[in-house]
Amino acid sequence: MNVRSAGERAAGTGTAPMRKVVVWDLPTRLFHWCLAGLIAGAYVTANLGKIDLHFLCGYAILALLLFRLAWGVIGSDTARFARFLQSPLAALKHLSHFRRREPDTEVGHNAAGGLMVLAMLALIALQVATGLFSNDGLFSEGPLAKYVSPAVSDRLSGLHEFNFNLILAAVVLHVAAILAYALVKRHDLVRPMVLGWKRLPASIPAPRRASLALAALVFALAAGAAWALAAFV
Ligand code: HEM
Repeated sequence: MNVRSAGERAAGTGTAPMRKVVVWDLPTRLFHWCLAGLIAGAYVTANLGKIDLHFLCGYAILALLLFRLAWGVIGSDTARFARFLQSPLAALKHLSHFRRREPDTEVGHNAAGGLMVLAMLALIALQVATGLFSNDGLFSEGPLAKYVSPAVSDRLSGLHEFNFNLILAAVVLHVAAILAYALVKRHDLVRPMVLGWKRLPASIPAPRRASLALAALVFALAAGAAWALAAFV
């Protein structure tokens, strides 16, 4: 599907009629802002020693991750991994004309953004996975820590602590990239992630949106799995 290049051609003329297109569905937007809030919450609660709340944030992040993985397969067009994951070469090619000021015709993540999303989700998944096996050296441990030796649990606790720095670095890079798009290319990426829509050339077809009922069902299953892990394992 050559949606983007059609739009670019139209936008390139400078006369293309524009229209509002919903590029991010509500579930993806809720996922994004809840994830950002919960990561901040997990950091603050860990530093304050509020371990119960830290665990709660961790389980909620796990539920969000499970939801996002499923939504990346069966969700709306722009949420689908198959749609936005491209090769590192495509990402480099995209970045090579970063300084060029041109209209924003992206219907979802661009090639570089897609890889950044993958990296962030992988780092967050590693954080959740190591957290499940971690201990705080005092009275608390993740629900899976009892299945490994104390030495392995200690190692994974160290990795859990270290990996958070990588998440922090990725988030700083993420926000810096969004700022750079605003300053260099004059592309406002934040408003679409808040309100869902952006103005695109009318020639660009709107992406298909999956139903909210499906999203609610997928989220309920994801939250149920996280809850079962917390309650029964
Ligand atoms: C802990 C903090 C954050 C994390 C972990 C995070 C993570 C993510 C992830 C995983 C995505 C991909 C969304 C998806 O396809 O499901 C994304 C996209 C996005 N995020 Fe964040 N984010 C954080 C903070 C922020 C902040 C503070 C802003 C606003 C400045 C922001 C703005 C955006 C925007 C605009 C996109 C869409 C980018 C695009 O158009 O391709 N994020 N973020």
